Amino acid sequence: ASLIDRNTFRVDTRAALLVEVQAIEALPAALADPAVAGREPVLIGAGSNLLLAGDIPLALRIEADATTVLGQDASGTRIRAEAGLAWNDFLRQVLARGIAGPENMALIPGTIGAAPIQNIGAYGTEIGEFVETVEAWDRRGARVVRLPREACAFGYRDSVFKREAGRYVIVAVEFFFPAAPALRLDYAGLREELAAMGVATPTASDVADAVSRIRTRKLPDWRTLGNAGSFFKNPIVAAARADALAAAHPAMPVYPAGDDARRKLSAAWLIEACGWKGARQGDAGVAAQHALVLVNHGHATGPDILALAERIAASVEARFGVGLEPEPRIVGARFAPAVAA
Ligand code: EPU
Repeated sequence: ASLIDRNTFRVDTRAALLVEVQAIEALPAALADPAVAGREPVLIGAGSNLLLAGDIPLALRIEADATTVLGQDASGTRIRAEAGLAWNDFLRQVLARGIAGPENMALIPGTIGAAPIQNIGAYGTEIGEFVETVEAWDRRGARVVRLPREACAFGYRDSVFKREAGRYVIVAVEFFFPAAPALRLDYAGLREELAAMGVATPTASDVADAVSRIRTRKLPDWRTLGNAGSFFKNPIVAAARADALAAAHPAMPVYPAGDDARRKLSAAWLIEACGWKGARQGDAGVAAQHALVLVNHGHATGPDILALAERIAASVEARFGVGLEPEPRIVGARFAPAVAA
């Protein structure tokens, strides 16, 4: 089966076998099927954080998408959502119940099942803050496990599900949203957007709308220009190294990275400084409106996009001495930028 309609880069990679699981309870039997067992599955949610760059023996998609309120009291609300639900649909369901918390992550593509893997985040919030338990099929033990937040080891675009890639098939996520949290409006541009909308006292839904407007403006729509959002993580480097770079490049953004010893740099800025913004190599390109987004202008293959990513990372490394790591999951090939000595 062609996966062209199942990945937002819109590359025409084929899967030898495509299995869709309608109900969570059906997953163990589906994986034990003789035609399936022994093949390494590639989990595909919305296909929005995925670069398909090689042969896929088995693509697995969980369709189950129910939500259940598990409990609500003065402290907050617990909700369970199944893996196949679109994250943004869930977010809007939550906000419609009068619950706040996830609003800064509006319009992030992808499913509930994919969200914890890279600990999706935007505009000052990460999903890991609200995850209480991740329910997953553990392929190692062939059983369902319930991982509490601490066991998920959430970090910046990171989790145990990413580090132990291939081990877990996330089937559902249980969230806890504390009652009446403060809105987070400190990310650059958010207050300005709310002001432009004419909103003086924003609700959580207003914040979601403002974030959606910013994203729509900044990021290309994969329906018209295939892409997977940010292609690289923002690099985290030693503070001394960041200070030296900042001294040499006063315009370079430097952000805190959670502790005093390290800083987060802007991958978009580094890539733009190397002249890549809007560049094109065949049908693989760098978005004109955001240097961190690689795009498919039409018929780029997975390897075409990977090759461009490697050239970009090699040039940033050569110029700034900073390594870039891809953010999307790369399947069927290895990311290996060749840095000229
Ligand atoms: N910048 C440039 N050139 C560009 C674009 C941006 O130099 O073409 C610089 C600007 O100085 C800007 C700074 O980069 O102020 C940061 O840009 P932006 O606010 O767009 O955020 P980002 O660091 O590029 C990250 C996330 C996004 C998330 C935004 C907002 C990563 C890898 N990406 O991007 O997440 O939406 O912050 O929180 O952390 C994604 O993960 O796919 C994604 C889109």
